[in-house]
Amino acid sequence: METKGKALVTGASSGIGRETALRLAREGFQVIAAARRKERLEELAKRSPNIVPRPVDLSDSQALDDFSRELLNLSEPVTVLINNAGFSLRGALEDVSLSSIKSLFEVNLFALIKITQACLPWMRRLRKGTIVNLSSIVGKFPFPTSGPYSATKHAVEAITDALRMEVRPFGIRVVTIRPGMIGTEFNETANRLTGDLLSRTDPDYKPVYQTYGAGMAKLFTNVSIPGPELIADLIVEAVLSDSPGAVYAKGPFVKELLGERLRLDDEGFYRLMMEKTGLKGLIVE
Ligand SMILES: NC(=O)c1ccc[n+]([C@@H]2O[C@H](COP(=O)([O-])OP(=O)(O)OC[C@H]3O[C@@H](n4cnc5c(N)ncnc54)[C@H](OP(=O)(O)O)[C@@H]3O)[C@@H](O)[C@H]2O)c1
Repeated sequence: METKGKALVTGASSGIGRETALRLAREGFQVIAAARRKERLEELAKRSPNIVPRPVDLSDSQALDDFSRELLNLSEPVTVLINNAGFSLRGALEDVSLSSIKSLFEVNLFALIKITQACLPWMRRLRKGTIVNLSSIVGKFPFPTSGPYSATKHAVEAITDALRMEVRPFGIRVVTIRPGMIGTEFNETANRLTGDLLSRTDPDYKPVYQTYGAGMAKLFTNVSIPGPELIADLIVEAVLSDSPGAVYAKGPFVKELLGERLRLDDEGFYRLMMEKTGLKGLIVE
């Protein structure tokens, strides 16, 4: 098959990134699959001769510098960039350390910026390229206990919106992907990194976590959580399109909640979220 060019997918060792790498390889792209877990990437590369594993820890500034230099000097440059690597931490603001919030920003935002900066010079020279940035429904409004993660995705939204306008004159397309809850390793990783919140929080917060947990469990009763294929298909649709949309959003409650966010004012949306999350009636004496 004739190659369609070089693609880079970050966070390709699992979930949405893995499925996207496989689909792009199937479409004829030469895919650089980047993430930390080398064995996972090597296993993925066995699935297609078009996939090349590139182990890298995006939170390691030296490794990120080396990777960026490598991208700038590729003989065949990256013309499709999928900035997908990311993770979450949970907790009320008082329960999340500043250092762990910084590590969230390192991967979810600063690595995305650095890698984009490394790919842009070639895309500009070639007057073509597609950059797809993974945001989230929480990139437009946060849920309680997801403030820091939501902040990284709000920042991704802003960077992506500005970049779209800056590089459109060079024929470079920039797309935001806004998933709702998707069944990947994402939640498991967030739980592992967060640890047991209830055992370490101040007793004041216990009813907040418990009520919110029950509220979310109720909200998601009988809701089936889609797999990563749903979002990988959207990403590939955007990449293959002659004129991709600015934003693609999919997942449980995504259309409904983003619609309400546009329809209601700040006060109204805050009230709706307190109701949806079960926190509306909670007073801690
Ligand atoms: N799943 C959801 O509900 C959901 C909803 C909205 C948005 N999203 C966004 O979608 C994207 C993909 O998430 P997913 O659901 O597919 O989660 P996932 O299965 O946990 O995959 C996350 C990927 O990011 C990589 N990664 C994390 N830290 C890294 C680091 N320091 N260096 C390099 N790679 C790193 C992981 O690889 P290694 O661990 O091997 O490094 C993994 O390949 C993320 O940006 C996430 O914020 C997910």
